[in-house]
Amino acid sequence: MKILITGGAGFIGSHVVRLFVTKYPNYQILNLDALTYAGNLENLRDVKQAPNYKFVKGDIADQNFVDQLFAHEAPDAVIHLAAESHVDRSITDPMAFVKTNVIGTVNLLNAARHLWQPGGYAGHVFYHVSTDEVYGSLDFGPEMFTEETAYDPRSPYSASKASSDHFVRAWHHTYGLPIKLSNCSNNYGPNHFPEKLIPLAIHRLRTGQPVPVYGKGENVRDWLFVKDHATAIDAVFHRGKPGETYNIGGVNEWQNLKLIELLCDVVDEKTGQAPGTSRQLIKFVTDRAGHDMRYAIDSSKIMNELGWKPSVTFEQGLAQTVDWYLENEEWLNHVTSGAYQDYNAKQYAGR
Ligand code: NAD
Ligand code: TYD
Repeated sequence: MKILITGGAGFIGSHVVRLFVTKYPNYQILNLDALTYAGNLENLRDVKQAPNYKFVKGDIADQNFVDQLFAHEAPDAVIHLAAESHVDRSITDPMAFVKTNVIGTVNLLNAARHLWQPGGYAGHVFYHVSTDEVYGSLDFGPEMFTEETAYDPRSPYSASKASSDHFVRAWHHTYGLPIKLSNCSNNYGPNHFPEKLIPLAIHRLRTGQPVPVYGKGENVRDWLFVKDHATAIDAVFHRGKPGETYNIGGVNEWQNLKLIELLCDVVDEKTGQAPGTSRQLIKFVTDRAGHDMRYAIDSSKIMNELGWKPSVTFEQGLAQTVDWYLENEEWLNHVTSGAYQDYNAKQYAGR
Protein backbone atom coordinates (compact mmCIF):
# COMPACT_ATOMS: atom_id res chain seq x y z
CA MET A 1 0.00 0.00 0.00
CA LYS A 2 1.23 3.49 -0.85
CA ILE A 3 0.09 6.15 1.62
CA LEU A 4 0.31 9.85 0.87
CA ILE A 5 0.80 11.73 4.15
CA THR A 6 0.37 15.49 3.77
CA GLY A 7 2.07 17.89 6.21
CA GLY A 8 4.53 15.19 7.24
CA ALA A 9 7.32 17.68 7.94
CA GLY A 10 5.22 19.48 10.58
CA PHE A 11 4.79 18.76 14.25
CA ILE A 12 2.16 15.99 14.32
CA GLY A 13 2.82 14.86 10.74
CA SER A 14 6.46 14.04 11.48
CA HIS A 15 5.43 11.76 14.37
CA VAL A 16 2.84 10.06 12.14
CA VAL A 17 5.38 9.58 9.31
CA ARG A 18 7.93 8.10 11.74
CA LEU A 19 5.35 5.71 13.25
CA PHE A 20 4.14 4.47 9.85
CA VAL A 21 7.62 4.21 8.26
CA THR A 22 9.01 2.17 11.17
CA LYS A 23 5.94 0.12 12.13
CA TYR A 24 4.84 -0.79 8.58
CA PRO A 25 7.93 -1.55 6.46
CA ASN A 26 5.65 -2.95 3.71
CA TYR A 27 3.91 0.38 3.22
CA GLN A 28 5.39 3.05 0.94
CA ILE A 29 5.13 6.40 2.73
CA LEU A 30 5.08 9.49 0.55
CA ASN A 31 5.39 12.71 2.53
CA LEU A 32 3.99 15.77 0.74
CA ASP A 33 4.81 19.08 2.39
CA ALA A 34 5.23 22.67 1.21
CA LEU A 35 7.86 23.33 3.92
CA THR A 36 6.24 26.51 5.17
CA TYR A 37 7.68 28.14 8.31
CA ALA A 38 6.14 25.21 10.26
CA GLY A 39 7.58 22.42 8.10
CA ASN A 40 11.05 21.19 8.90
CA LEU A 41 12.79 18.16 7.41
CA GLU A 42 15.10 18.08 10.44
CA ASN A 43 12.08 16.55 12.21
CA LEU A 44 12.57 13.42 10.07
CA ARG A 45 16.35 13.10 9.99
CA ASP A 46 16.19 9.60 11.48
CA VAL A 47 13.83 8.16 8.83
CA LYS A 48 14.87 10.01 5.68
CA GLN A 49 17.05 7.11 4.44
CA ALA A 50 14.40 4.44 5.04
CA PRO A 51 13.68 2.47 1.83
CA ASN A 52 9.90 2.87 2.26
CA TYR A 53 10.03 6.68 2.68
CA LYS A 54 9.99 9.44 0.07
CA PHE A 55 9.58 13.22 0.38
CA VAL A 56 7.92 15.49 -2.19
CA LYS A 57 7.85 19.27 -1.82
CA GLY A 58 4.64 20.89 -3.03
CA ASP A 59 1.63 23.02 -2.23
CA ILE A 60 -1.77 21.34 -1.77
CA ALA A 61 -3.46 24.61 -2.78
CA ASP A 62 -1.95 24.20 -6.28
CA GLN A 63 -4.52 22.11 -8.14
CA ASN A 64 -2.29 21.26 -11.13
CA PHE A 65 0.49 20.09 -8.88
CA VAL A 66 -1.88 17.93 -6.80
CA ASP A 67 -3.50 16.36 -9.90
CA GLN A 68 -0.10 15.55 -11.43
CA LEU A 69 1.18 14.07 -8.18
CA PHE A 70 -1.83 11.74 -7.92
CA ALA A 71 -1.51 10.73 -11.60
CA HIS A 72 2.21 10.04 -11.18
CA GLU A 73 2.28 8.42 -7.71
CA ALA A 74 -1.20 6.83 -7.58
CA PRO A 75 -1.44 6.62 -3.78
CA ASP A 76 -3.83 3.99 -2.36
CA ALA A 77 -4.63 6.06 0.72
CA VAL A 78 -4.26 9.59 2.06
CA ILE A 79 -3.65 10.80 5.61
CA HIS A 80 -4.18 14.55 5.39
CA LEU A 81 -2.49 16.71 8.03
CA ALA A 82 -1.14 19.65 5.99
CA ALA A 83 -2.67 22.86 7.31
CA GLU A 84 -2.10 26.32 8.58
CA SER A 85 -2.49 25.53 12.26
CA HIS A 86 -1.98 28.57 14.51
CA VAL A 87 -5.00 30.56 15.74
CA ASP A 88 -3.01 33.78 16.26
CA ARG A 89 -1.74 33.70 12.66
CA SER A 90 -5.31 33.07 11.44
CA ILE A 91 -6.36 36.31 13.12
CA THR A 92 -3.77 38.34 11.20
CA ASP A 93 -3.84 36.42 7.88
CA PRO A 94 -7.11 34.47 7.46
CA MET A 95 -6.76 34.03 3.69
CA ALA A 96 -3.71 31.75 4.07
CA PHE A 97 -6.01 29.45 6.10
CA VAL A 98 -8.70 29.46 3.42
CA LYS A 99 -6.15 28.60 0.74
CA THR A 100 -4.42 25.70 2.46
CA ASN A 101 -7.11 24.34 4.77
CA VAL A 102 -10.15 24.71 2.51
CA ILE A 103 -8.92 24.85 -1.11
CA GLY A 104 -6.01 22.48 -0.40
CA THR A 105 -8.36 19.91 1.13
CA VAL A 106 -10.81 20.13 -1.79
CA ASN A 107 -7.92 19.68 -4.25
CA LEU A 108 -6.92 16.47 -2.45
CA LEU A 109 -10.53 15.20 -2.29
CA ASN A 110 -11.00 15.78 -6.03
CA ALA A 111 -7.71 14.14 -6.94
CA ALA A 112 -8.42 11.08 -4.74
CA ARG A 113 -11.93 10.70 -6.17
CA HIS A 114 -10.78 10.96 -9.79
CA LEU A 115 -7.98 8.45 -9.20
CA TRP A 116 -9.97 5.88 -7.22
CA GLN A 117 -13.59 6.03 -8.40
CA PRO A 118 -13.11 4.38 -11.84
CA GLY A 119 -11.66 1.18 -10.35
CA GLY A 120 -13.93 1.18 -7.30
CA TYR A 121 -13.17 2.49 -3.84
CA ALA A 122 -12.32 -0.88 -2.23
CA GLY A 123 -9.02 -0.74 -0.35
CA HIS A 124 -8.83 3.07 -0.39
CA VAL A 125 -9.01 5.52 2.54
CA PHE A 126 -9.04 9.32 2.69
CA TYR A 127 -8.31 10.20 6.32
CA HIS A 128 -8.68 13.84 7.35
CA VAL A 129 -6.99 14.92 10.60
CA SER A 130 -8.91 17.73 12.28
CA THR A 131 -9.27 19.60 15.53
CA ASP A 132 -11.70 19.85 18.46
CA GLU A 133 -11.76 23.63 17.87
CA VAL A 134 -14.47 23.14 15.21
CA TYR A 135 -16.96 22.52 18.06
CA GLY A 136 -16.52 26.03 19.47
CA SER A 137 -16.07 27.02 23.10
CA LEU A 138 -17.39 25.46 26.33
CA ASP A 139 -17.97 27.16 29.67
CA PHE A 140 -16.60 25.76 32.93
CA GLY A 141 -19.32 23.10 33.43
CA PRO A 142 -19.03 19.33 33.01
CA GLU A 143 -19.94 19.42 29.29
CA MET A 144 -17.56 17.89 26.75
CA PHE A 145 -17.41 17.75 22.95
CA THR A 146 -18.75 14.48 21.53
CA GLU A 147 -18.87 13.39 17.88
CA GLU A 148 -22.49 14.64 17.86
CA THR A 149 -21.73 18.18 19.13
CA ALA A 150 -22.87 20.78 16.57
CA TYR A 151 -20.08 22.68 14.83
CA ASP A 152 -19.62 26.26 16.08
CA PRO A 153 -16.19 27.48 14.94
CA ARG A 154 -15.23 30.92 16.21
CA SER A 155 -11.73 31.70 14.92
CA PRO A 156 -10.60 31.92 11.28
CA TYR A 157 -8.49 28.79 11.96
CA SER A 158 -11.37 26.73 13.34
CA ALA A 159 -13.75 28.06 10.66
CA SER A 160 -11.33 26.87 7.96
CA LYS A 161 -10.95 23.44 9.61
CA ALA A 162 -14.74 23.13 10.07
CA SER A 163 -15.16 23.98 6.40
CA SER A 164 -12.64 21.33 5.38
CA ASP A 165 -14.42 18.74 7.59
CA HIS A 166 -17.71 19.55 5.85
CA PHE A 167 -16.12 19.13 2.41
CA VAL A 168 -14.64 15.77 3.45
CA ARG A 169 -18.07 14.51 4.61
CA ALA A 170 -19.71 15.93 1.46
CA TRP A 171 -17.34 13.86 -0.73
CA HIS A 172 -18.40 10.77 1.24
CA HIS A 173 -22.13 11.43 0.94
CA THR A 174 -22.09 12.69 -2.65
CA TYR A 175 -19.40 10.62 -4.33
CA GLY A 176 -19.02 7.69 -1.94
CA LEU A 177 -15.38 8.53 -1.12
CA PRO A 178 -14.29 6.26 1.76
CA ILE A 179 -13.37 8.94 4.30
CA LYS A 180 -12.37 8.84 7.96
CA LEU A 181 -12.12 11.85 10.25
CA SER A 182 -10.75 12.57 13.68
CA ASN A 183 -10.98 15.69 15.84
CA CYS A 184 -8.22 15.98 18.41
CA SER A 185 -7.48 18.24 21.35
CA ASN A 186 -4.28 20.30 21.86
CA ASN A 187 -1.10 18.31 21.25
CA TYR A 188 2.28 18.85 22.90
CA GLY A 189 5.66 17.13 22.63
CA PRO A 190 8.97 17.13 20.72
CA ASN A 191 9.26 19.06 17.42
CA HIS A 192 6.43 21.47 18.29
CA PHE A 193 7.02 24.84 16.63
CA PRO A 194 7.63 27.42 19.38
CA GLU A 195 4.70 29.67 18.52
CA LYS A 196 2.21 27.44 20.40
CA LEU A 197 1.89 27.84 24.15
CA ILE A 198 3.98 24.96 25.55
CA PRO A 199 7.05 25.13 23.25
CA LEU A 200 6.92 28.95 23.28
CA ALA A 201 7.03 28.91 27.08
CA ILE A 202 9.86 26.36 27.23
CA HIS A 203 11.90 28.34 24.69
CA ARG A 204 11.36 31.59 26.58
CA LEU A 205 12.13 30.07 29.98
CA ARG A 206 15.32 28.58 28.54
CA THR A 207 16.41 31.99 27.30
CA GLY A 208 15.20 34.05 30.28
CA GLN A 209 12.43 35.88 28.39
CA PRO A 210 8.92 36.65 29.73
CA VAL A 211 6.23 34.01 29.16
CA PRO A 212 3.09 35.74 27.81
CA VAL A 213 -0.16 34.52 29.39
CA TYR A 214 -3.21 35.83 27.50
CA GLY A 215 -5.85 37.54 29.66
CA LYS A 216 -6.01 36.09 33.16
CA GLY A 217 -4.77 32.66 32.11
CA GLU A 218 -8.18 31.13 32.92
CA ASN A 219 -8.78 29.44 29.57
CA VAL A 220 -8.81 25.66 29.62
CA ARG A 221 -7.35 23.24 27.07
CA ASP A 222 -7.17 19.43 27.03
CA TRP A 223 -3.60 18.32 26.30
CA LEU A 224 -2.51 15.11 24.55
CA PHE A 225 1.08 13.89 24.03
CA VAL A 226 1.79 13.98 20.29
CA LYS A 227 2.97 10.34 20.12
CA ASP A 228 -0.40 9.31 21.56
CA HIS A 229 -2.15 11.26 18.81
CA ALA A 230 -0.02 9.35 16.28
CA THR A 231 -1.11 5.98 17.74
CA ALA A 232 -4.74 7.17 17.65
CA ILE A 233 -4.32 8.06 13.95
CA ASP A 234 -2.87 4.58 13.36
CA ALA A 235 -5.94 3.05 15.09
CA VAL A 236 -8.46 5.14 13.12
CA PHE A 237 -6.65 4.60 9.82
CA HIS A 238 -6.60 0.80 10.21
CA ARG A 239 -9.66 0.02 12.28
CA GLY A 240 -11.98 3.06 12.11
CA LYS A 241 -15.19 2.62 10.12
CA PRO A 242 -15.43 4.42 6.75
CA GLY A 243 -17.58 7.55 6.98
CA GLU A 244 -17.09 7.83 10.75
CA THR A 245 -15.60 10.50 13.00
CA TYR A 246 -13.56 9.86 16.15
CA ASN A 247 -12.83 12.40 18.88
CA ILE A 248 -9.33 12.12 20.41
CA GLY A 249 -8.29 13.71 23.70
CA GLY A 250 -6.06 13.30 26.70
CA VAL A 251 -8.67 13.43 29.51
CA ASN A 252 -6.31 16.10 30.74
CA GLU A 253 -7.79 19.58 31.19
CA TRP A 254 -5.58 22.41 32.40
CA GLN A 255 -6.14 26.09 32.98
CA ASN A 256 -3.38 27.97 31.10
CA LEU A 257 -1.94 29.65 34.20
CA LYS A 258 -1.79 26.38 36.18
CA LEU A 259 -0.16 24.68 33.22
CA ILE A 260 2.47 27.41 32.85
CA GLU A 261 3.21 27.27 36.59
CA LEU A 262 3.71 23.49 36.39
CA LEU A 263 5.94 23.94 33.35
CA CYS A 264 8.01 26.56 35.20
CA ASP A 265 8.54 24.10 38.06
CA VAL A 266 9.59 21.30 35.68
CA VAL A 267 12.06 23.63 33.94
CA ASP A 268 13.52 24.77 37.31
CA GLU A 269 13.95 21.15 38.38
CA LYS A 270 15.54 20.04 35.08
CA THR A 271 17.92 23.01 34.87
CA GLY A 272 18.88 22.99 38.57
CA GLN A 273 17.47 26.48 39.20
CA ALA A 274 16.06 27.43 42.61
CA PRO A 275 12.33 26.55 42.88
CA GLY A 276 10.20 29.56 41.90
CA THR A 277 12.82 31.13 39.59
CA SER A 278 10.95 30.53 36.32
CA ARG A 279 7.55 31.61 37.70
CA GLN A 280 8.95 35.15 37.95
CA LEU A 281 8.96 35.26 34.14
CA ILE A 282 5.17 34.85 33.86
CA LYS A 283 3.70 37.98 32.28
CA PHE A 284 -0.03 38.64 31.82
CA VAL A 285 -0.67 40.24 28.42
CA THR A 286 -3.65 41.47 26.37
CA ASP A 287 -6.05 38.65 25.59
CA ARG A 288 -6.41 37.00 22.17
CA ALA A 289 -9.36 38.35 20.14
CA GLY A 290 -12.33 35.96 20.37
CA HIS A 291 -10.37 33.67 22.73
CA ASP A 292 -12.25 30.35 23.15
CA MET A 293 -12.69 29.69 26.88
CA ARG A 294 -12.62 25.93 27.22
CA TYR A 295 -12.12 22.83 25.08
CA ALA A 296 -12.85 19.39 26.54
CA ILE A 297 -13.18 16.22 24.55
CA ASP A 298 -15.06 13.00 25.20
CA SER A 299 -12.88 10.25 23.68
CA SER A 300 -15.03 7.32 24.79
CA LYS A 301 -15.89 6.30 21.20
CA ILE A 302 -12.26 5.72 20.10
CA MET A 303 -11.44 4.15 23.48
CA ASN A 304 -14.40 1.74 23.45
CA GLU A 305 -14.59 0.92 19.75
CA LEU A 306 -10.90 0.92 18.78
CA GLY A 307 -9.25 0.16 22.15
CA TRP A 308 -7.03 3.27 22.00
CA LYS A 309 -5.88 5.14 25.09
CA PRO A 310 -3.11 7.62 25.94
CA SER A 311 0.13 5.91 27.01
CA VAL A 312 1.65 8.60 29.23
CA THR A 313 0.43 10.86 32.03
CA PHE A 314 0.75 14.61 31.56
CA GLU A 315 3.60 14.74 34.07
CA GLN A 316 5.52 12.05 32.11
CA GLY A 317 4.80 13.67 28.74
CA LEU A 318 5.75 17.13 29.96
CA ALA A 319 9.01 15.85 31.48
CA GLN A 320 9.89 14.13 28.16
CA THR A 321 9.00 17.31 26.27
CA VAL A 322 11.14 19.61 28.44
CA ASP A 323 14.05 17.11 28.21
CA TRP A 324 13.71 17.09 24.41
CA TYR A 325 13.85 20.90 24.14
CA LEU A 326 16.81 21.11 26.52
CA GLU A 327 18.68 18.45 24.53
CA ASN A 328 17.81 19.87 21.09
CA GLU A 329 19.12 23.39 21.31
CA GLU A 330 20.31 23.25 17.69
CA TRP A 331 16.78 22.48 16.43
CA LEU A 332 15.39 25.36 18.49
CA ASN A 333 18.10 27.75 17.31
CA HIS A 334 17.36 26.88 13.67
CA VAL A 335 13.60 27.36 13.92
CA THR A 336 13.84 30.54 16.01
CA SER A 337 16.14 32.41 13.66
CA GLY A 338 15.12 34.87 10.93
CA ALA A 339 11.41 34.97 10.18
CA TYR A 340 10.51 33.68 13.65
CA GLN A 341 11.93 36.80 15.23
CA ASP A 342 9.88 39.08 12.95
CA TYR A 343 6.72 37.09 13.81
CA ASN A 344 7.41 37.36 17.55
CA ALA A 345 8.13 41.06 17.38
CA LYS A 346 4.75 41.66 15.67
CA GLN A 347 2.69 39.14 17.67
CA TYR A 348 3.78 40.37 21.08
CA ALA A 349 4.38 44.07 20.25
CA GLY A 350 2.88 46.25 22.96
CA ARG A 351 1.70 43.22 24.92
P1 NAD B 1 2.08 22.29 11.84
O1 NAD B 1 1.74 23.71 11.57
O2 NAD B 1 3.17 21.94 12.79
O3 NAD B 1 2.44 21.55 10.47
C1 NAD B 1 1.70 21.75 9.30
C2 NAD B 1 2.52 21.18 8.13
O4 NAD B 1 1.77 21.40 6.94
C3 NAD B 1 3.88 21.88 7.95
O5 NAD B 1 4.88 20.92 7.73
C4 NAD B 1 3.66 22.75 6.72
O6 NAD B 1 4.84 22.94 5.97
C5 NAD B 1 2.63 21.94 5.95
N1 NAD B 1 1.84 22.78 5.05
C6 NAD B 1 1.24 23.97 5.36
N2 NAD B 1 0.64 24.48 4.27
C7 NAD B 1 0.84 23.59 3.27
C8 NAD B 1 0.45 23.54 1.91
N3 NAD B 1 -0.28 24.53 1.36
N4 NAD B 1 0.80 22.47 1.16
C9 NAD B 1 1.53 21.47 1.70
N5 NAD B 1 1.95 21.47 2.98
C10 NAD B 1 1.60 22.52 3.76
O7 NAD B 1 0.69 21.62 12.27
P2 NAD B 1 0.42 20.43 13.30
O8 NAD B 1 0.29 21.00 14.66
O9 NAD B 1 1.38 19.33 13.06
O10 NAD B 1 -1.04 20.00 12.83
C11 NAD B 1 -1.21 18.99 11.82
C12 NAD B 1 -2.69 18.79 11.58
O11 NAD B 1 -3.33 18.39 12.81
C13 NAD B 1 -3.42 20.06 11.14
O12 NAD B 1 -4.37 19.69 10.17
C14 NAD B 1 -4.09 20.57 12.39
O13 NAD B 1 -5.27 21.28 12.08
C15 NAD B 1 -4.39 19.26 13.11
N6 NAD B 1 -4.46 19.36 14.59
C16 NAD B 1 -3.45 19.96 15.30
C17 NAD B 1 -3.50 19.99 16.69
C18 NAD B 1 -2.39 20.61 17.51
O14 NAD B 1 -2.53 20.70 18.73
N7 NAD B 1 -1.28 21.00 16.94
C19 NAD B 1 -4.59 19.41 17.35
C20 NAD B 1 -5.61 18.82 16.60
C21 NAD B 1 -5.52 18.79 15.21
P1 TYD C 1 -2.15 27.59 21.50
O1 TYD C 1 -0.97 26.75 21.84
O2 TYD C 1 -1.98 28.70 20.52
O3 TYD C 1 -3.31 26.58 21.02
P2 TYD C 1 -4.88 26.89 20.72
O4 TYD C 1 -5.13 28.34 20.68
O5 TYD C 1 -5.05 26.25 19.39
O6 TYD C 1 -5.62 26.20 21.83
O7 TYD C 1 -2.72 28.23 22.83
C1 TYD C 1 -3.10 27.42 23.94
C2 TYD C 1 -3.71 28.33 24.97
O8 TYD C 1 -2.68 29.20 25.47
C3 TYD C 1 -4.81 29.24 24.42
O9 TYD C 1 -5.80 29.41 25.42
C4 TYD C 1 -4.09 30.56 24.16
C5 TYD C 1 -3.03 30.58 25.25
N1 TYD C 1 -1.75 31.28 24.92
C6 TYD C 1 -1.20 32.19 25.82
O10 TYD C 1 -1.76 32.42 26.91
N2 TYD C 1 -0.03 32.81 25.48
C7 TYD C 1 0.61 32.59 24.29
O11 TYD C 1 1.67 33.22 24.03
C8 TYD C 1 0.04 31.64 23.38
C9 TYD C 1 0.71 31.35 22.07
C10 TYD C 1 -1.14 31.00 23.74
